[in-house]
Amino acid sequence: MIKIGIIGCDKIAQVRHIPEYNANSKCKIIGVYDINQENANYISKKYNVKAFKTVDELLGSGVDAVSVCTSNSTHANMSIQALDSGKHVLCEKPMAITYDECLSMCKASQNANKLLMIGHNQRFSPTHIKAREYIASNKIGKVLSFHTTFGHPGPEAWTSNPNSWFFDKTKAHFGAMADLGVHKTDLIRFLLCDDICEVYSQFGILDKTYSDGSPISVDDNAFCCYKTKKGAMGLMHVSWTFYGNSEDNSTQIYGSKGILRLYDDPDYSFIFEPRDGEVQKYNLDQIADNKTQTDNSVDSTGIIDHFISSILKESKCIITGEEALKSMKVIFAAEESSKTNKKVIIN
Ligand SMILES: NC(=O)c1ccc[n+]([C@@H]2O[C@H](COP(=O)([O-])OP(=O)(O)OC[C@H]3O[C@@H](n4cnc5c(N)ncnc54)[C@H](O)[C@@H]3O)[C@@H](O)[C@H]2O)c1
Repeated sequence: MIKIGIIGCDKIAQVRHIPEYNANSKCKIIGVYDINQENANYISKKYNVKAFKTVDELLGSGVDAVSVCTSNSTHANMSIQALDSGKHVLCEKPMAITYDECLSMCKASQNANKLLMIGHNQRFSPTHIKAREYIASNKIGKVLSFHTTFGHPGPEAWTSNPNSWFFDKTKAHFGAMADLGVHKTDLIRFLLCDDICEVYSQFGILDKTYSDGSPISVDDNAFCCYKTKKGAMGLMHVSWTFYGNSEDNSTQIYGSKGILRLYDDPDYSFIFEPRDGEVQKYNLDQIADNKTQTDNSVDSTGIIDHFISSILKESKCIITGEEALKSMKVIFAAEESSKTNKKVIIN
C-alpha cells in the first residue's frame, strides 16, 4: 500500500487528487498539509486523515509519495524538498515558473532516484489516446497543420474567488498560458509524437480585472504560432475570456489523408473526416471541465492511477519531469517571443 501525502488542500486537491487516490486500492492518503490550516483541517475532518502543521512533519510521517497541489510559484521548492526526503512526487502543472527551477526538479528526481511526474492529465483522455494512435499509424497521413484551443471564463469561477492568486504574477507567473497553454502545448507534442521547434506568440491582458477594477498582472489570453520538428505548423489560442456557457477544449489536426476533430462536437468526442471515405464518429468520453469536476466526480482523469502504477513499475511514466520540461521549454520560449515580438527557435 503506497502511503500518500497531499500538499495544498483546495480546489484541484479536492476535485481530483483526493477522490482519485481514494478510488485506487493500491494507495492510501495518510495526511495533508496546507499553509492555510483551515483548508487542511477541512480535508482532515472530511476524509479522516491527519492534518500536519508543517510540510516537514508531513514528509517525516512515513509517506511514500506526495501530490503538490499548491500555487505555481511554490511547485519547485515543494517538489524538491519532497524528492530530497525520498518521496515520489506528482506535481501539478505548470511544472514551475522558470526553466532553472524545472531543471532543478529533474536533478532532484535523478539524485533521489524517485519519480517526478507532472499533472498533464490531457494525455490520459481516451479521445486523445485514440488520436495519438491514429496519427502514429498514419491513418490521417502526414500531419500538415493543427489548431488547438482551451478557453473558459477564468479561474475566478473555478476557485470561487474574484481575486484569485491565478491573477497575481508573483504567485502564478503566467496567466492563461500556464493555466491552459501548458496543457495544450504538451498535448500537441503528445498527439503528434513530435517536438515544437519554433514559436511566435502574443500574450495579452484583454479584459480581466480584480474585483476593484484594477487589471490583473498576468495574461488572460495567449496566441501561439508553432512549428514542429517534423514540419507541421499550427495555432494555439488559450483564454480566460470565453464568457459563454461551455468551455472550448477542442483540437483539430489536419493531415494529408483527412481531418481529426477532438472534443469539437457536443455528441462525438472523436471525429475523423477522411479525404476519401465515410466520416468516423465516436463518443469516447467527456473531457473534464470546470463545471463538472466536483469532489463527487465519478469520472477519473487517469492521472493518479498512472502515478501509482508508475511508482509500482507496472507502467512506464509517460509524463516525467524530463518529458514535461520539453513542454515547459516551449512555454518559456513563447513568453520570450511575446516580450520581444520575435520568433524564438527552441533547441
Ligand atoms: N491539471 C489541471 O487540470 C489543473 C486544474 C486546476 C489547477 N491546477 C493546478 O493546481 C495548482 C493548485 O490550483 P488550485 O486550483 O487547487 O488552487 P487553490 O487556490 O484552490 O488551492 C491552492 C492551495 O494551496 C495552498 N498553498 C499555497 N501556497 C502554499 C504553500 N507554500 N504551502 C502549502 N500550501 C500552500 C493554498 O492555501 C490553497 O489551499 C495550480 O498550480 C494549478 O495550476 C491544475
